[in-house]
Amino acid sequence: MALNKKPYKGCRDFFPKDMRVRDFLFSRMKKIAEEFAFEPYDGPLLEEVDLYKAKSGDELINDQIYSFTDRGNRHVAIRPEMTPTVARMVANVHKQESKPLRWYSIPNLMRYEKPQRGRVREHWQFNVDVFGAPTNLGEIEILSLIKNFLTSFGADQTMFSILLNDRKVVDAVFNNLLKLDKDSSYKLYKVIDKAKKVTAEKLDTMISEIISDDDQKTLFKSYLALNNFSQLNEFITANNIQDECLEFIHFSELVSQLDINDFIQYDPTIVRGLDYYTGVVFEIFDKHPDNNRAIAGGGAYANLLQIFNESPLAGVGFGLGDVTLKDFLETHNLLGDFSKPKNELFIVYTSETEEVASINLANNLRLQGLKVESNLGKMKFNKIFKLAETKGHNHVAIIEQKDDKINVQVKNLTERTTLDCQLTEFDKIISFIK
Ligand code: HAM
Repeated sequence: MALNKKPYKGCRDFFPKDMRVRDFLFSRMKKIAEEFAFEPYDGPLLEEVDLYKAKSGDELINDQIYSFTDRGNRHVAIRPEMTPTVARMVANVHKQESKPLRWYSIPNLMRYEKPQRGRVREHWQFNVDVFGAPTNLGEIEILSLIKNFLTSFGADQTMFSILLNDRKVVDAVFNNLLKLDKDSSYKLYKVIDKAKKVTAEKLDTMISEIISDDDQKTLFKSYLALNNFSQLNEFITANNIQDECLEFIHFSELVSQLDINDFIQYDPTIVRGLDYYTGVVFEIFDKHPDNNRAIAGGGAYANLLQIFNESPLAGVGFGLGDVTLKDFLETHNLLGDFSKPKNELFIVYTSETEEVASINLANNLRLQGLKVESNLGKMKFNKIFKLAETKGHNHVAIIEQKDDKINVQVKNLTERTTLDCQLTEFDKIISFIK
């Protein structure tokens, strides 16, 4: 029986045309991270499953994780996210490193998901995290980086927004106002996380399963209806939870003085599905209706190092998926054309007598930094230009023997200019092309 030629469900083959896009996106991720003085790190593809059980949340563990028992009877998982790995790595070195740590990586991750637009089983995720920054300043740094990253492609505030909330505010609503116990709080977090994905009736039923008192329900719904920072401030004052929300009030004041403010929108339904977040949480959404999956998500997590018995070290960061980023850029026409490779020179010859000259010329020009393809074999003259164009070359060098001399004719395919020269005139050829 013939084997299946397709990749495993929800995973992608990256053909050269796909690699061109991927390399471009990764190079832009590296560029922005380095502009903000972040350093790269990486970790293993497999981790012990307990690393995720500690704080990644029920959905990830019960429904999405790829886990198995290895030959040494260890229960391991293919990484579904990078945050537990980076926390584990930081736990090893944070005492001797000066803070804040600014780290980034672009790992591939696997989650057992139902493949659909914006969701696959293997994706690459740009992870950027700061450890040990003063309150609110790590958050601002992270949000500034995301904003600069997306605007560097030409995106503006008509195209995306940063929806933001603070888990401390949600905790204050749950503990001080609704008087929920730990178990009910956990369940209500999951309900809020689904608030925008279900109908109003379904949401109402889900809330009623946790809050039975009608007044409490009304209060909770008035929280869910908040739409901006000033409404939130009124809610906080009216319900006397200023002390618990002080940090977030300061944060919103700080944000209002910065240019990221144009992109930020307070949203009470943003709580994030992962359990380790403890402070500011955010998701970046495309404003185009075709893309309803978050482009990126993240937040602050104060206690993650405690799972390794280390003293707490404040962390804040985000993950941004390659699939959602590509969908966003394509939808807004911000990606550019990657249909052809970008080469500089195609060297061709029409009879075997020029074969050695062609190989030598190509190698000499490559040594001087030119991107050169030398055609492997002689070529018919009438095929040269069409082929050069499909292969993404903007110059062609035709090597021809005339009398007993071998000459080179270099043609610029866009400007339609020509240079005639000798085989060894490398500098002339390079300055014509560059
Ligand atoms: P997350 O919200 O699970 O957060 O994922 C972050 C982003 O990764 C999503 O917004 C989406 O762009 C992309 N993503 C996630 N799952 C998939 C999928 N199945 N297919 C395609 N793209 C996907 C985290 O993973 C956190 N660990 C991020 C973080 C870093 N928080 C702090 N630091």
